[in-house]
Amino acid sequence: MGVEFVDLFDKWASSYDDTVSGNDPEYREVFEGYEEMLEKLAELSLSPVMEFGVGTANLTRKIINQNKVVFGIEPSKEMRRIANVKCPEAAIYDGDFINYPQLLTPIRSIISSFAFHHLNTDEKKQAIKKYQQQLDPDGQVIFIDTLFKDEAHKQQLIKDAEKAGFLNLAQDLQEEYYAYLEELREMFLEHGFEVSFKQLNKYAWLIQAKKGE
Ligand SMILES: C[S@@+](CC[C@H](N)C(=O)[O-])C[C@H]1O[C@@H](n2cnc3c(N)ncnc32)[C@H](O)[C@@H]1O
Repeated sequence: MGVEFVDLFDKWASSYDDTVSGNDPEYREVFEGYEEMLEKLAELSLSPVMEFGVGTANLTRKIINQNKVVFGIEPSKEMRRIANVKCPEAAIYDGDFINYPQLLTPIRSIISSFAFHHLNTDEKKQAIKKYQQQLDPDGQVIFIDTLFKDEAHKQQLIKDAEKAGFLNLAQDLQEEYYAYLEELREMFLEHGFEVSFKQLNKYAWLIQAKKGE
């Protein structure tokens, strides 16, 4: 479910940290302020935390450094291998946003960075419904991901990328399932969350959804 990109991530795993540190000019603006964004997300999260799309565990590492308990879920075997080396203290399971091991521990924060766009609209709705049921009463979903304010904004970002000669980025923006802000707001409201959005760089937004009563 929503794991059609996993082969690509197995291949990207060994050079992923290079990309997020700004060494790939094509994705520099996408990951601008990467470390600070992850630090902020780690600080906002309340333990015990469940993290989806762990990747190479850069966010997981920051959460562990804050003495919080984190259960990671990651579908790419190669990403999990690197994550386990970088963050041996965390439990990292095979799974995805929708199909993952059921843990008995109560969860106060469900978090993810740069991964929720791998789910299409129906899958996003399914995941949000599941998290509403899984989270503690004071729980929150906190995501960082690329978002489009609306269709005009999407087309502008694609045009900017093409103009700069960033054709892979332009293709990603067209083909991956980046959400529109209002569409995502509706999905959270429908499941009783209070949601807020904050833009962090040209592409990335902080999405905070508090579980309602
Ligand atoms: C761009 S990386 C982000 C990694 C990390 N969270 C970070 O901020 O650097 C996206 C990650 O999401 C994972 N992923 C892809 N499809 C997924 C799905 N359906 N459910 C959960 N994770 C998924 C990929 O394997 C990859 O590790």
